[in-house]
Amino acid sequence: MTRSTVARAFLVRWRWYLCAAGAACTLLWTLYFLSLHRRPIIIPLPHTFSADNTSDVPAYHPPPSGPPMDPAGNATLGFEAILALSPFTSWRTRGLQAAARITGLEIQIPPQPPVRPEMIDAFAGLGPEDARHPNHGSALAWVAHLDLIKHVVQSDMETALIMEDDADWDLSIREQMVGVAEAVRQLTKTTESEGIPYGDAWDVLWLGLCAETWDDTFETVYIDDQTACPAHQYSGLAKGPVERLPPAQRVVFYSGAPICSFAYALTREGAKKVLLDIGAGQDEAFDIALMNGCRERNLTCISVLPELFHHYIPSQNLGSTSFVNGGEEGKNFEIEVEMGSTENILESARCRALWGENCIPH
Ligand SMILES: *[C@@H]1O[C@H](CO)[C@@H](O)[C@H](O)[C@H]1NC(C)=O
Ligand SMILES: *[C@@H]1O[C@H](CO)[C@@H](O)[C@H](O)[C@H]1NC(C)=O
Ligand SMILES: *[C@@H]1O[C@H](CO)[C@@H](O)[C@H](O)[C@H]1NC(C)=O
Repeated sequence: MTRSTVARAFLVRWRWYLCAAGAACTLLWTLYFLSLHRRPIIIPLPHTFSADNTSDVPAYHPPPSGPPMDPAGNATLGFEAILALSPFTSWRTRGLQAAARITGLEIQIPPQPPVRPEMIDAFAGLGPEDARHPNHGSALAWVAHLDLIKHVVQSDMETALIMEDDADWDLSIREQMVGVAEAVRQLTKTTESEGIPYGDAWDVLWLGLCAETWDDTFETVYIDDQTACPAHQYSGLAKGPVERLPPAQRVVFYSGAPICSFAYALTREGAKKVLLDIGAGQDEAFDIALMNGCRERNLTCISVLPELFHHYIPSQNLGSTSFVNGGEEGKNFEIEVEMGSTENILESARCRALWGENCIPH
């Protein structure tokens, strides 16, 4: 028998079984989909692209007329701009730029306006005696955040993502953010006709934090995400909530008590409200003030857990041997010579870009 007659005989003999198997598959598939709908809302991530460390070319180009959350996978993660807060060039900005390159992100580092120490002290002293006051270092960081937020307002940006210069993220950040955008739209009941990827029914989108509360009584949207840091690898103050999460899922919810400002996004209105709400000091630090604005005052804040951004920490064997001076365009700056670590990020973009390795602590 030739190969085709064998195939035909096989088909004739087994056609009923094949039909039955096909029908069973369809049924199972349908049941599987229906079963998914019993959970609150779960958003599968698109798997259309992957991070590639061999080229600088962004791997993902959203279709021009796709769903409104698709641009969340673009080079500015669907925000009008990504802005990093950085006083000067150092190992921090070098790692930031290497991470941006490997994940195809465009990050601007606007120059910081000079501030005199007396101004910082004046800011720290604002308000009555019995108000809370930041120490000098916290006041300095707070004023720097406010200056960058003023830049967002002055540039009339629709949305902006602000990150600190030691922030790190996963190689799959662009996929992750498409899921986050869809989840934020669902949480805020944003309609199809709203073209901004994350909608604009929020003030602060807290993407990089180090502490938060959550349990399943919170109004929550779940995202199916294999790249979410599992509870056994998660460290830090949000470990309790992360242990309550279903495996391989991320949650998006109205903020409970987020702390740390590794990365947060603002809407146009949100930026103005934040300036009004926490522009005059009178709390321990920028992130604590922002948290209190979310908890006790008028800011509408949304958190994501596990977080998508976390700060990178240089090697514990630090000391002067971990850094050498490097030169670029005649300027001197520190270069790290030994890999550090980033908690809660499975595939750190910084460590992959600079050392070709993962650096989540064991
Ligand atoms: C890319 O990543 C692989 C590991 O996945 C590593 O072996 C290789 O050296 C990296 N290449 C570059 C150019 O960083
Ligand atoms: C990414 O998408 C946002 C929202 O559509 C847009 O404002 C921004 O310009 C886009 N970024 C790039 C680099 O195209
Ligand atoms: C909240 O906003 C309203 C108007 O938008 C204002 O009247 C009120 O004072 C604000 N509350 C707080 C606690 O800031």
